[in-house]
Amino acid sequence: MGITSKPVVFAILSAAVILIGTTVTVFIPLFMPSTQPVSAYIKPYTAVEQEGRDIYMREGCNNCHTQTVRPLRTEVLRYGEYSKPEEFAYDRPFLWGSKRTGPDLNRVGGKYPDSWHYTHFKRPQGMFEKSNMPPYFWLAKNRLDTSYSFKKTTVLGYGYTEAMVKQQLEEYRAKVADENYPSKESRNVVTPLELRKELTEMDALVAYIQKLGRDVKSMETNQ
Ligand code: HEC
Repeated sequence: MGITSKPVVFAILSAAVILIGTTVTVFIPLFMPSTQPVSAYIKPYTAVEQEGRDIYMREGCNNCHTQTVRPLRTEVLRYGEYSKPEEFAYDRPFLWGSKRTGPDLNRVGGKYPDSWHYTHFKRPQGMFEKSNMPPYFWLAKNRLDTSYSFKKTTVLGYGYTEAMVKQQLEEYRAKVADENYPSKESRNVVTPLELRKELTEMDALVAYIQKLGRDVKSMETNQ
């Protein structure tokens, strides 16, 4: 009589095999350092970039844009170096996405100046007539809510003190409000007068977009 004629024993044994298999292939790797690579080049998001990331999620940009360059020749030629696991060390949740209505954004940081993004977010069709990306001009009319910025960076384990978060917000505010900010004109077109000296949701979104892939690009130039 083979084991197949003893249903209870068979069920118990197969459950045990599946459990061992799951432990070995899922749970053990979960706690192994080699499955969580880190790189000194990959820096956590600043408080402003983190706020921008939250706006990106709130607006569902990830429904049209992926954030992962696959190791395929055509993708590398179009977007640049393919994505590595360590790049996503601070991404919770990750935003790899699964739909590419628009281009991949994992290497978009530094591709254009800030001014390009202000103009593009205002009305993508002004730049690409056939673009089906919706306009986001109204993001510049919303003052950035920073009341949870410190809490967010703490929960995500970025290791900033409250003073550091305040400083990051203030530094970015000073940068965009400065008379000599190179993208001042395009920012002023979308930002209402009363918010020009403050941080808007669009400022944070631009900061986040400019961060995407920036660390990897700096790694390549330093090699
Ligand atoms: C309905 C789909 C759709 C949504 C939603 C969408 N986009 Fe796009 N996006 C596109 C398309 C299509 C393009 C290419 C044409 C263009 O640049 O307008 C694009 C282009 C871009 C580019 C330029 C990329 C490059 O390399 O030239 C950026 C940056 C961008 N989108 C950011 C965003 C952000 C941020 C959001 C959310 C606030 C967003 N998009 C929402 C479809 C979308």
